[in-house]
Amino acid sequence: MSNAVLEAKGVFKNYTQGDIQFDILQDINFALHKKEVVGLIGPSGSGKTTLLNLLGMLDIPSGGEIFVDGIATSVLSDADKTKLRGASIGFVFQFHNLLQDFTALENVMFPLLIQGIDRNIAKEKAENILEKMGLKDRLKNYPSQLSGGEQQRVAIARAVVFNPKIIIADEPTGNLDTKNSQMVFEMLLDLVSQMDLAIILATHDTSISSRIPKKITIENKTLVDI
Ligand SMILES: Nc1ncnc2c1ncn2[C@@H]1O[C@H](COP(=O)(O)OP(=O)(O)OP(=O)(O)O)[C@@H](O)[C@H]1O
Ligand SMILES: [Mg+2]
Repeated sequence: MSNAVLEAKGVFKNYTQGDIQFDILQDINFALHKKEVVGLIGPSGSGKTTLLNLLGMLDIPSGGEIFVDGIATSVLSDADKTKLRGASIGFVFQFHNLLQDFTALENVMFPLLIQGIDRNIAKEKAENILEKMGLKDRLKNYPSQLSGGEQQRVAIARAVVFNPKIIIADEPTGNLDTKNSQMVFEMLLDLVSQMDLAIILATHDTSISSRIPKKITIENKTLVDI
């Protein structure tokens, strides 16, 4: 039996606008295994975000099947998808999407509180991860009181705090300068390896992709190893 935590089999994605069909992805086959780090690279518009959204059940394939933690997702109801996503996938986006009216600590506690975890336990776990991300003395800061790099570290803490099996990261350092990109990337990889997570990470940044041994790209609408 495959130990893939995330898998795409024969996945297609197209959009129709009026009478015209735009094929974005064709016959995508991909497996992300436990503890694996995979870099998804390729030019703007090649379909990286589209693929990550499909893998994360944020969008629906036009054909083929996505398996999350071994579960075929095409047959799931929206509620079941939300549940599976909430239990197994942590997302990090280019723009952090932190809740502006809540502190760093509260933002990281959220995924745990949603799962019904006791508030004190949630607080302890969130503090622990934020400390690992070097933010021990920023717990009470609101997002507007944090630097871009700090905000992105909070977003990473929020993505991993509930111990998902999978991290999907779309240009997680795309909005940062070189120095901050490197630091945020190192911290993300350290955390992923400490927690035995699997990650697929889309990036334009060659200083980052050069550090990832396993890389894939989208060429002529389909995935190829590079
Ligand atoms: N909702 C949509 N309707 C129609 N076309 C779309 C839609 N979403 C994305 N596309 C098209 O799909 C293609 C792939 O877009 P996608 O955002 O996946 O690229 P990307 O590789 O993530 O690019 P970038 O590096 O700029 O983030 C683009 O040509 C885009 O215009
Ligand atoms: Mg994109």
